Amino acid sequence: MIHSASFFCLCLLLSTGVFGDEVKSVSALEGDSVTLNTDVKMQRDDQILWMFGPQESRIAEIHRQNIYIDAINTIFEKRLQMDDQTGSLIIRNIRTEHSGLYKLLIINNRGNSNKRFNVSVYAPLPVPVIISNSLNCSSTSPSSVSNCSLLCSAVNVGAVTLSWYKGNSLLSSISVSDLSISLSLPLELECLDDSYSCVVAYSFTNRTTHLSNTDLCQPCPEREERSHLSISIVVIALLLLLLAVVAGLMNCYRKRKQSGKEVKAQEEEILYADTTFCAYRVKSTDVIAADQTLYSTVKT
Ligand SMILES: *[C@@H]1O[C@H](CO)[C@@H](O)[C@H](O)[C@H]1NC(C)=O
Ligand SMILES: *[C@@H]1O[C@H](CO)[C@@H](O)[C@H](O)[C@H]1NC(C)=O
Ligand SMILES: *[C@@H]1O[C@H](CO)[C@@H](O)[C@H](O)[C@H]1NC(C)=O
Ligand SMILES: *[C@@H]1O[C@H](CO)[C@@H](O)[C@H](O)[C@H]1NC(C)=O
Repeated sequence: MIHSASFFCLCLLLSTGVFGDEVKSVSALEGDSVTLNTDVKMQRDDQILWMFGPQESRIAEIHRQNIYIDAINTIFEKRLQMDDQTGSLIIRNIRTEHSGLYKLLIINNRGNSNKRFNVSVYAPLPVPVIISNSLNCSSTSPSSVSNCSLLCSAVNVGAVTLSWYKGNSLLSSISVSDLSISLSLPLELECLDDSYSCVVAYSFTNRTTHLSNTDLCQPCPEREERSHLSISIVVIALLLLLLAVVAGLMNCYRKRKQSGKEVKAQEEEILYADTTFCAYRVKSTDVIAADQTLYSTVKT
């Protein structure tokens, strides 16, 4: 029993790669510059070998501090580069044909280790386009006319998800597998009450189009409670302003009275009193400005 358990453990260790033979997934868009990191600091006598594809053909190597890059390899042309401190492989302007398995072999007197990178390169994401979908809605029930019908589309996509978001919450989404097709997703709103956006996404990156206030949908009318709330804010602000002005005047009056009594008062002190009053005044005008802005927003 014990024997079979330890045997099972050994098998597990072997299959999960106790010798460092892990596969790391790397996703990139065409045109990106991709770095496959060795995660080591190279020592003088280290040999680092990079291989690519099912044939595991050698594409780059550092040995005794000499860098070798396969210049004859047609699929990479002049895209490959090696970091001479770490031995990391850099692939510039990556294309879909550079998708595949990259194998790293580090050979030194401390023992060998290897690592694999599964690189997937995807076509760039198109910008999702939002259009009005209500052109032929006029024939249906009259209430739908006031609704705002939208359609978000992304052309020539594969392995993506297209989604509608309201703020940060997902409203709806649709996914396609590998086929390169055009996707679209409708959205029906009564009016625009939040920030809506359409997102086209791979698992590792995305592009977003926001539905801006002005086009396609009318903003929702202001709610009653909201304007009541705004009015009470304005009233409170006005009261605060009044208090501030009264306090400022009282302060000034007190200071002036004091300076009248003590004719010998230091000049600094009087200056100081003036400054505080000025500060008050500046502050109060700020409040007035804020009030006016608030109020006009409510009116429009
Ligand atoms: C590499 O990634 C692709 C796409 O994610 C997957 O289909 C494939 O099975 C992976 N290959 C390996 C060897 O992990
Ligand atoms: C608009 O009309 C087309 C066909 O003329 C139809 O396929 C589509 O579903 C209609 N759209 C809506 C929102 O009714
Ligand atoms: C208008 O849109 C709302 C959702 O925003 C929907 O519940 C309602 O059915 C729509 N009305 C019509 C007539 O399509
Ligand atoms: C889009 O990408 C950004 C950054 O890469 C990420 O923060 C965000 O969550 C992604 N959004 C969606 C909807 O996937």
